[in-house]
Amino acid sequence: MTLINRSLVTIDDLSNGEMEATFALADEMSADIKEQFGLCKGKIMASLFFEPSTRTRMSFEAAMHRLGGSVISSFEANATSFAKGESIADMAKVVGHYADIIVIRHPWEGAARVVADYAGIPVINAGDGGHQHPTQTLCDLYTIKQDKGTIKGLKIALWGDLKYGRTVHSLIFALAKFGADILFYPSPGLEVPEHVVKKLIKEYGGKLTHYKSADPAAKDEVSNLDAIYVTPNSPHQLAMMPNVNLQVELASGVDALYVTRAQKERFTAGEGLANRYPVVDKKLLQGKEFKKTLVMHPLPRVDELAYELDADPRARYFEQAARGVPVRMALLAQSLGAKEMPVKDEEALPRPDYPLHRQTFGIKCANPKCVSIQPTEQKYIKPLFRIVDHDPLTMRCVYCEHGFEPRFIASTEWHEGKVEFKKYHRADSYLVKKIRPEHLLVFNSEEEAEALGFKPSHYSHE
Ligand code: NCD
Repeated sequence: MTLINRSLVTIDDLSNGEMEATFALADEMSADIKEQFGLCKGKIMASLFFEPSTRTRMSFEAAMHRLGGSVISSFEANATSFAKGESIADMAKVVGHYADIIVIRHPWEGAARVVADYAGIPVINAGDGGHQHPTQTLCDLYTIKQDKGTIKGLKIALWGDLKYGRTVHSLIFALAKFGADILFYPSPGLEVPEHVVKKLIKEYGGKLTHYKSADPAAKDEVSNLDAIYVTPNSPHQLAMMPNVNLQVELASGVDALYVTRAQKERFTAGEGLANRYPVVDKKLLQGKEFKKTLVMHPLPRVDELAYELDADPRARYFEQAARGVPVRMALLAQSLGAKEMPVKDEEALPRPDYPLHRQTFGIKCANPKCVSIQPTEQKYIKPLFRIVDHDPLTMRCVYCEHGFEPRFIASTEWHEGKVEFKKYHRADSYLVKKIRPEHLLVFNSEEEAEALGFKPSHYSHE
């Protein structure tokens, strides 16, 4: 496949082969960055940043300038028609006529998907709330590959705010896709969201192991933080052994430690850093397991990564940021059709084709930050889910990818002249597999089902 005219909304949109091809082109371009001028002459990139940004926006813009293209930009929601109540779809349709490609950052999760649906030109997600940030992931993988030569079989530790860190969410799936093992070191209360873990297990063959702290009081030591071990592709020997010591697991060394800041701007009311946010410094990196560890961070850093590490030979975060230009040049040049790269392999793991579920009443996405439930967007976006599991019945929002498990189900096929068949059932009854996806109705409560005239069946009691 070629990347021409394709949007990049989540990291799932790129196959391993396409990512490798992008890295190869980034290598080629960084060998002589000034020689690329003219490749995208006459093309316009719209740079729409409705959340703070330094690196992502400037490296995208620098990349477009390096390719000889032009940039139009907007980075103040209050200075655009959003402030007048304009919807994202209307903005996308308009900007789609002004530019050849859109790069968008927005606080609502799923916003980039909506822009891609309406713009009519390729759209690149530069961060949509706490959901994903796929181009940061390309910079992260590219940095790891420059040092380690491969991603497969590496052990990568993710540190800090794994709940709201969008760079972490994109990176997790990419690492799993390439066959790396992942260790989670969340700051307490900021663990990887359940829907992300479920997707890792179901779609990437991940196996989880929880390492409980030997001494829960000693929160400072990395070995004492709870960790979750994911082994994509093939079950890991240690993951099969109960009560395995984390130290044993770490004996082979950690290949990269990916540090993130607390995404305080996404915390909900009452959510705070109850426990101290763990800091990565020289002392922590004295551990044997970190001897050859690349220290990475998408930046900006606040207090979680000590400045004393800047001179440490393991530090890679400024390289990560610098590589944003050639990586984004490679991506823009391919999306705009200025370069086509041979793609070696296709998707290592086939993407599942889950049935879509549209239900215009009752249910909506429960994530308050989802684009689909914002008042300006609800006028045209109808709730849209994928049925990702039957046991238990699990729906995933097409926009923000948060999941939910409805408690009751019914079929639109109730009528056929027999009103007594207008029944609802428990979502865990055998009927969940009998009702065809296009006829399925889901409810979160019995009241919701009864309000629509459905009566309880034999299979409705919990
Ligand atoms: C990250 C982001 O915006 O998600 N920054 C970036 O793009 N390099 C990380 C962060 O803000 O913490």
